[in-house]
Order: sequence, then C-alpha cells, then structure tokens
Amino acid sequence: MSTDNHKSKNVFASKVGAILAAAGSAVGLGNVWRFPTETGEHGGAAFILIYVVFMLLLGVPIMVTEFAIGRHGNSDVTGAFQKMSGGRGGWKWMGLLPVVSGFLVLSYYAVVAGWTLYYAFEALMNGFAGKTSTDFVADFTAFSSDSAQPVFWTALIIAITCGIVALGVQKGIERGSKIMMPMLFIFIVVLVGCSLSLPNANLGLKFLFQPDFSKVNSTVILSAMGQAFFSLSVGLGCLCTYACYFRKDVDLMKDGLSVAGIDTLVALLSGLIIFPAVCSIPGLQPDAGPSLVFITLPNVFQQVFGNVPVLAYLFSLIFYLLLVMAALTSSISMLEMSAAYFHKKLRLPRPMAAVIVSAVCLILSMFCSWSFGAWKDITIFGMGFFDLFDFLVAKLIMPVGGMLMCIFLGWVVDEKVLRAEMTNNGTLRSPLYPTYRFIIRYFAPVCIILIFANELGLFNFIF
Ligand code: PFF
Repeated sequence: MSTDNHKSKNVFASKVGAILAAAGSAVGLGNVWRFPTETGEHGGAAFILIYVVFMLLLGVPIMVTEFAIGRHGNSDVTGAFQKMSGGRGGWKWMGLLPVVSGFLVLSYYAVVAGWTLYYAFEALMNGFAGKTSTDFVADFTAFSSDSAQPVFWTALIIAITCGIVALGVQKGIERGSKIMMPMLFIFIVVLVGCSLSLPNANLGLKFLFQPDFSKVNSTVILSAMGQAFFSLSVGLGCLCTYACYFRKDVDLMKDGLSVAGIDTLVALLSGLIIFPAVCSIPGLQPDAGPSLVFITLPNVFQQVFGNVPVLAYLFSLIFYLLLVMAALTSSISMLEMSAAYFHKKLRLPRPMAAVIVSAVCLILSMFCSWSFGAWKDITIFGMGFFDLFDFLVAKLIMPVGGMLMCIFLGWVVDEKVLRAEMTNNGTLRSPLYPTYRFIIRYFAPVCIILIFANELGLFNFIF
C-alpha cells in the first residue's frame, strides 16, 4: 500500500497539518527561552542579523534537504538512506541518526520543559504573588537543584508527550499541532501587546533592533549558527522523520521557507515580550543569561503589574502556558524520531514504542536534572550531563549531521531523484532549485567545515 494515499493514517492529512507539525517542532523553547537568552548575551541586534543570515543560507537549505530525504523514504528514514544511496558507502547508517539523536535531545530538553510546567503550575496557583527578586533567585536555585521535584515535572512532560505520540500521526501529532500552534500565536500576540505598553519599552526595542557590530566575534558567529540549527530543528533527522508523513503534493521549498518564517517570527515576537518587560524595571539587564525566563521574568511580572495583581497573575500564567505548549510541540517531534524506528522497523505497536523510548529518556533526563544539584560534581570532559547533552546535540551532531545530509543529497544521490523531489516529479516550477543545489553541494559543507576548523583553533580566520 502506498503511504501517499491521503487517507492513510501514516500521512499528515492536510498540507496545513504538515506545515504546522514541522513548525511545531521548530517553534519551541529554542524560540522563547534560548533565543532571547542568546540575543541578550551576544549583544542584541547584531546577533539577530547574523542569525537570520545563517537561517536563510544554511538552516532553510538543510531543512529542505531533510524534507526531501524523508519524503522520498516513504514512511521510513532508515529505508530512505538505504534506498537513495543504493547501499553505497555505508550511508544507510545515517538512518540511525534520528533514532540516537531523539534520545539525546529529548533527555535534556524535557528537563527545561519540566521546569516550564512547574512554573505554569506555580503561576496558576498564584505562587509568585508578593515575592521579591531575592525570593525568585532562591526559589529557582532550590527547585532546579532538588533531586525529586524537577524529575516529577520532567516525567509529567514526557508522559504527556508520550500520550500524544502514541495516538499516531494524524490523531496525535497533527491534531496536537493544529490545536496548540494557533493558541500559541494568540498568547504571543496578547503578551506582545502588554509588554509594548510598559514604560521604557523603547529601551527594549532599541536593544533588539539597533545593531552594535563591535560585539561581533567568533563566539557570536558560532552561537548564531548553533541557534539557527537548534531553532529550526535541523541536523538531527527530526524533519526527515516528519517528512516521511508528507503527501507527495507538498511543495518542499515553500514549506521550508514557511516554517523558517514562522519560526523567526515567533523568536522575534518572544524578544518583543521579554526585552521591553525587562527594560521597564530600572537596574535589570537584558543579558541575564539562562535565568532570564525563570528568575528575571517572574520578578518583572510582579514588579511591573504589582499594583494590579490580577494582571500580574494573568501575564505570568499566559506566559508559562505559552512556554509549555511551545515545549510540547517540539518534544513530540523528538520522541517521534526514536519511537518511529521502534514502531516501523522493529514492528512494535506505536504506543509500546512510545512508552519504551519515553522510559529510557526519563532515566537519562534524571541524570541531566541531577547535574544541577546532587550530581553537580560529576563531569565528563568538564561538563555535567545537561551541558554534555546540549553540547553533543547543538554543537556537534546538528552541524555535522546537517553537513552529511547536504553531502548525501548533493553528491551521492542521483540528481534526477533530487530534482524530482524538489519539483514534485516535474509538476512544480522551482526557481530556487539551482541556488539550493549550489548551497547543499558547496556552500553549506565548506561553511560548516570552516566554522569547525575555526572553533578547533586550526586557523583563526574569523577573529
Ligand atoms: N527547534 C526546537 C526549539 O526551538 O525548541 C528544538 C528542537 C526540536 C531541536 C526538535 C531539535 C529537534 F530535533
């Protein structure tokens, strides 16, 4: 049976569903938490400009590459690499990339997702009322370093994710994305409105939109590339996994650009929520680092709306619900990466596959969670488990995986196959195709190798 049958349960039923699911994977904590943090730490607008350039020149082409590989595979990523390479050169092993990456990425992502769920719960119970900035620092430190509490919330996030994935492609992933993504947008727009009406909002806007190029150095460039990869979910094979469920009439290039557009918009809007809010309180700095979302912001909500407690309550609640939903649509895609393999290749029922992967991820996520507390002193290559997983995923596997997929599609696979995927067997005009092919054959691999060489100190050509 062809999986291209629109009624098949293993295909996204609609084109909108396919875009929303991929956008759901892309839009996540990376946009609402990591993007403002990175922007804050690396000097604001200049970082954003470099990030957008990476997004267009590397992120989108790699995303489209993942789409093409996944859809060609017709419901199976491992099969896709095998089939497209004709069994040459060991490329079939690339099919295991999403399986392994899925475990790694979900295990540490779920920890922060768990924190957001806890903060949403606290907001719901009005737990932030009357607290001072010192209370927020103490609370977050106590919570994140506790051995049991964060693990409970992480387990809850993993359980919800598992439930959605177990329901299947259409009833779980597609329906979940179709409900959560529009809600996320509504929440964001409401919060942007509130934030922009605060006193001194213009200082936040200045920070976000006025570039200071004197801050640009190799760390900023690397971080911008890492952020572009992480935010678009490219390089791990996650989008290959989703593209297996794309119908044959989906325009891959257009979808890639739409997803990148949605993702960037959400990141910028998150910046518009966070920086004006932070700048509205004298003395608070927009470069407060990862604690921005869990220490600075709840404090901001209390101080800014202190006179109108109901506003402080609503603003906090909506903000953390937004984070939870953003995290969920991404964690679903992470779990699916590994669960799909157990379901399709090892022929386990989908719910059982989802439960097995979730259980392993939960154990790994405990290690990551404890690296903020009881296991703080256990390090590998100088990093705790959380930082190690983040390093492996964002700094290593994403760029290397992205580069290998470009080389695979640009050099190994027959050009006719690539062209057929990009033009939907000649039924679409694809004016960007020559540029896209040039990027995946030359620009992306060379660029990623140079950036790595620079990072390893082989030669310092950036700064
Ligand atoms: N893009 C997601 C975010 O911005 O939060 C994170 C992510 C999802 C990374 C899926 C990797 C992945 F495979």
